Amino acid sequence: MTLIPRSLPSVLATLLLMAGSASLHASEPEAAKAAQPWTPATLRQTLAQLPAGDAKRGEQVHTHFMCASCHGERGVAPTLNWPHLAGQKAAYTAKMMLDYQSGLRREGRRAELMYDIAVMMTPQQIADVSAFYAVQPVPRDDGTPRPQAQPAPRDMDARLLVRKGDPTRLITPCASCHGVVGQGGSREAPALAGQNPLYFVRTMLDYQGGVRNNDSAKGMRVFAHKLTRGEIETLARYYADLPTGKK
Ligand code: HEC
Ligand code: HEC
Repeated sequence: MTLIPRSLPSVLATLLLMAGSASLHASEPEAAKAAQPWTPATLRQTLAQLPAGDAKRGEQVHTHFMCASCHGERGVAPTLNWPHLAGQKAAYTAKMMLDYQSGLRREGRRAELMYDIAVMMTPQQIADVSAFYAVQPVPRDDGTPRPQAQPAPRDMDARLLVRKGDPTRLITPCASCHGVVGQGGSREAPALAGQNPLYFVRTMLDYQGGVRNNDSAKGMRVFAHKLTRGEIETLARYYADLPTGKK
């Protein structure tokens, strides 16, 4: 295997282009057409079939593919609205890499950057890099701007929505899937603690608009639909600054 992934220069060129407003990749990922939505069963089976990940080897994968150039040395992205990977559950990271690879997750040009990288990776590399992020400390005070909910939802208590949900709108508590301190839950339910709030808002709006539709059995879209933008921004701030962020 060569040391420099072949299409990395194009990825970096794309990155530079993104600084401006140039339009990118006109074509959709080829594989996207064939990508099948997950069912809970196919997802469980696929994740179970991945090889065991090793965090040490994962660090080498992280270096080899220059993940750090966008996601930071330890998985805390230095960029305004790109996701942090530190402290993320391995199953979720692995699922995302598979989804980018198959084109199932392709909500926009940023996802296409990930497609270009994911298609170069083997299942072992995916498992290893996922294990590496899982053992990094959860991001704290990541230095990115906090969204100001506009209009501010009246009397909204993010903690209440997270812990108790909203029975009147059939919103299950976020914590029942994402953990009480945002540490992630069973299977692929991701950690949210310390996540970059601008990325959080963007991806929730993507679920809401249906452009992010890689979630198994609409497990996340169904909740995103019920939230107002103000609520999403308030939740993003809540998770970004979750006081403990402990596992
Ligand atoms: C050129 C910049 C760039 C590089 C290099 C890069 N990423 Fe990304 N990554 C992004 C962007 C931008 C997103 C957000 C994409 C979106 O909104 O769908 C992202 C999203 C992700 C996500 C989804 C996070 C989430 O919370 O859903 C994972 C996992 C990820 N990247 C892993 C990696 C790994 C592993 C590598 C190295 C093998 C890597 N990335 C290299 C820019 C990059
Ligand atoms: C029934 C379980 C469940 C509930 C309840 C739930 N989620 Fe999720 N959530 C998931 C799963 C599973 C995913 C991963 C979906 C995928 O594969 O893209 C997810 C993904 C997300 C993501 C994307 C994370 C990333 O890094 O890209 C955010 C943000 C999120 N959820 C926020 C919330 C909030 C806020 C609530 C409460 C209003 C909530 N979720 C309620 C299961 C749930």
